[in-house]
Amino acid sequence: MVVSYEVEVSPGLLDPANGALADAGAGVPPVRSRRLVVVDANVHHRYGVRLSKYFNARGIEHAFCVIDAHERAKTMDSVFEVVSSMDRFGLARRQEPVIAVGGGVLTDVVGLATSLYRRSTPYVKVPTTLIGMVDAGIGAKTGVNFERHKNRLGSYHPSLVALIDPEFLATLSTRHIRNGFAEVLKIALIKDRHLLDLLAEHGSRLIAERLQPADGPGTGPIAGEVLRRAIHGMLQELQPNLWEHQLKRLVDYGHSFSPAMEMEALPELLHGEAVSVDMALTTLIAHHRGLVSAADVKYIWRVMDQLDLPRWHPVCTPDLLARALDDTVRHRDGRQLLPLPVGVGSACFVDDVSRSELARACAELQQLSWARSGTGRSGAASAAVGGGGHG
Ligand SMILES: NC(=O)c1ccc[n+]([C@@H]2O[C@H](COP(=O)([O-])OP(=O)(O)OC[C@H]3O[C@@H](n4cnc5c(N)ncnc54)[C@H](O)[C@@H]3O)[C@@H](O)[C@H]2O)c1
Repeated sequence: MVVSYEVEVSPGLLDPANGALADAGAGVPPVRSRRLVVVDANVHHRYGVRLSKYFNARGIEHAFCVIDAHERAKTMDSVFEVVSSMDRFGLARRQEPVIAVGGGVLTDVVGLATSLYRRSTPYVKVPTTLIGMVDAGIGAKTGVNFERHKNRLGSYHPSLVALIDPEFLATLSTRHIRNGFAEVLKIALIKDRHLLDLLAEHGSRLIAERLQPADGPGTGPIAGEVLRRAIHGMLQELQPNLWEHQLKRLVDYGHSFSPAMEMEALPELLHGEAVSVDMALTTLIAHHRGLVSAADVKYIWRVMDQLDLPRWHPVCTPDLLARALDDTVRHRDGRQLLPLPVGVGSACFVDDVSRSELARACAELQQLSWARSGTGRSGAASAAVGGGGHG
């Protein structure tokens, strides 16, 4: 099945002079100018008035469905809440796309609700977090958690368009900005050395500035390039395999062990933080196999430090990792298909990671974390590589 959808970077999205949001998915005239806007409660608190002013200025009748969107509320109950609001609104089936405004949790929930409602209803995504802008908001996957399993229920239902306005990041917490950088780092590690170099040089400043320029709306040149490269790299991987018929996916890097860690630690470990621990673990496994040199491991640790991303968490135990791998093998139809970095900026797939390799890498990460808290960061980096093996 051929499908096309747009990802558009549109600074000043809530400026009434900008028609992008009002026009997104609008049918041919005469159309009913109505929109149901499903919005994350925190985003509504900060942007609700501007959203209302925007739709009023564009002559669009609208109603809000405000959802408490966080990982523990990523459930079918939230999906039903959205479905009920669609019914109450009396949504026309094709010409009134639902507008989803929020982070990855909100867009995943609305994506699933709209894929179920009348078997498929159009929607528009407005991601307001960094993870949303570089990952959740630009793909086709929807989902909710089920019985402590991450995204166990879901569908493939791309939005008509994803509208990205980096200005939303101005109000996002520093922790969630860092969290989003984990997905940027994923793209850098598997396919974009230049992006990694940008993160190494500018990462902490970009976080402090929330990717905002000092002199007005939009993004500065480096922030703009980082966002573009991350989005483009992700879309390049999604485009030939949107429905995941091919289970060998480079963008699964960092997502083999992290779902189990994230759910075990819920709500303590954020999505990107769990992905970061997974990437640290698989970096060490790759190092032990001679795929990543000691110098490259140090470089990766340096970038993780720049981004202030974790490399270990107490839930990361050999037992949990073994269970996580078993579930990942089921998810990948009986094979590990585990992406591992090769140097920096490229990757390969392996099928034979053993429990003892997991246990060894896990023990080293734990040691590294203790060294990091005890002796500072540069000491931690050398401790890991020094204890690391033969790369
Ligand atoms: N569908 C996919 O392909 C895909 C890809 C990656 C991640 N995800 C999912 O995305 C989720 C993580 O997304 P996330 O990191 O955006 O988390 P999130 O949706 O929980 O948002 C993070 C926090 O930021 C708040 N927030 C959102 N926008 C804000 C803004 N502009 N200003 C201030 N606060 C704001 C939210 O209320 C929330 O408290 C996970 O559930 C993950 O599974 C899905």
